[in-house]
Amino acid sequence: MNMINFINNLPKAELHLHIEGSLEPELVFALAKRNNIKLKYNSVEQLKAAYEFDCLQDFLDIYYQGASVLITEADFYDLTYSYLQKCAAQNIRHTEIMFDPQTHTERGIAFKTVINGISKACIDAKEKLNISSLLIMSYLRHLTEEDAFKTLEESLPYKHLITAVGLDSSEKGNPPSKFERVFKASVKEGYIPLAHAGEEGPSEYIWEALDILNIKRIDHGNNCLHDKNLIQEIIKRDLALTVCPLSNTALQVVDDLKNHPLKKMMDLGLKVTVNSDDPAYFGGQLNQNFIEIQKALELSKRQLYELAKNSFKYSLLSNNEKQIYL
Ligand code: ADE
Ligand code: ZN
Repeated sequence: MNMINFINNLPKAELHLHIEGSLEPELVFALAKRNNIKLKYNSVEQLKAAYEFDCLQDFLDIYYQGASVLITEADFYDLTYSYLQKCAAQNIRHTEIMFDPQTHTERGIAFKTVINGISKACIDAKEKLNISSLLIMSYLRHLTEEDAFKTLEESLPYKHLITAVGLDSSEKGNPPSKFERVFKASVKEGYIPLAHAGEEGPSEYIWEALDILNIKRIDHGNNCLHDKNLIQEIIKRDLALTVCPLSNTALQVVDDLKNHPLKKMMDLGLKVTVNSDDPAYFGGQLNQNFIEIQKALELSKRQLYELAKNSFKYSLLSNNEKQIYL
C-alpha cells in the first residue's frame, strides 16, 4: 500500500485542534451573510490571500477577526459538525476539541450559545459518524487571570460537557505562572489541566506548565529541545507532545518541514502525536499534516503507526475506551 493510502486508512485521534481554527473561508462568508455582517474582504480569495504569517501574533489577529462571524448556536453547531465530517473522511475516530469561550463572550455571545452549539454537533457526530469527542475549554493567556476565573465560573453549569482546560493565544510575555490560581481552581472542579507551552515561548515556560500548572499533556512543546533536563522530565512524567507540523511552518516556528524536529523528538524517546491546530489557516487537515511530515522526514510506516497509536494512548479517554483502539 502506498504511503498516502496507508495514512488515509490509519485509524487516528486528533488531540490539538482549535474549533475556531477550523473555520474555512467559505464558511466565514456563508455565516457573514446569514448574520448580516459586513466583512472587510470582498471574496474568499481575498481572505485567503491574507493568510500569510510571520509569527503567532500575526495569525491570532486574523483568527479572532474570523471568529466574529460566529453568533448563534446554529453557527457553532455548523462549524463543529463541518469539522467532524472532515474527521470522518480522514478516519479520525476520536477528537479532543479546544474552544476559546472568551473569544466569543468578549463580543457579547453567551457561553451557553457556544457550548450548546459545539456539544450538540459532537453528540450528533457520535451517532451519525461514530466519532467520539471531548471538549477542552482554553483560557486566553493574553487576558487576565481574573477574566479566566470569570470563564471558569460561567462554565460550571456545563461542567459535564467539558473534560479539560487549556491555555492558548499569545505565549510570549504570558507565562503559565500567570494562571496558577485559576488552574488550581479548574482542577478542583474536575477539569484536566493542559496548556500550550514552548511554541514560541522559552523552555522555562514548559517547566512552569509542568511544575506550576501540573499539565497532563503539552501542546506543541517544541522548545523543550533546548533543555536536556526538561526532556528527561517530560519522559519521566510520560507526557505527550501534541505537535502540529503545518502550523509550525505557517507560523515560522520551524523554517522548513525538512528541519522539523518531530523525528528527533521521537528518537529522544519523547511521546509525540501529529495534529492540525488550525487547519483552515495552515494549509491542511490532519491527514495532510501526516502526508507532508512523512515526506519531509521520510518517516517509516512503523513510525506513522507509532504516532497514530500515541494519539489514542495519550488521549483523555478512559483506559477502557482506549482499549478499543490500542
Ligand atoms: N490559538 C489558536 N491556535 C493557536 C496556536 N497555535 N498557538 C496559540 N494559540 C492558538
Ligand atoms: Zn494550538
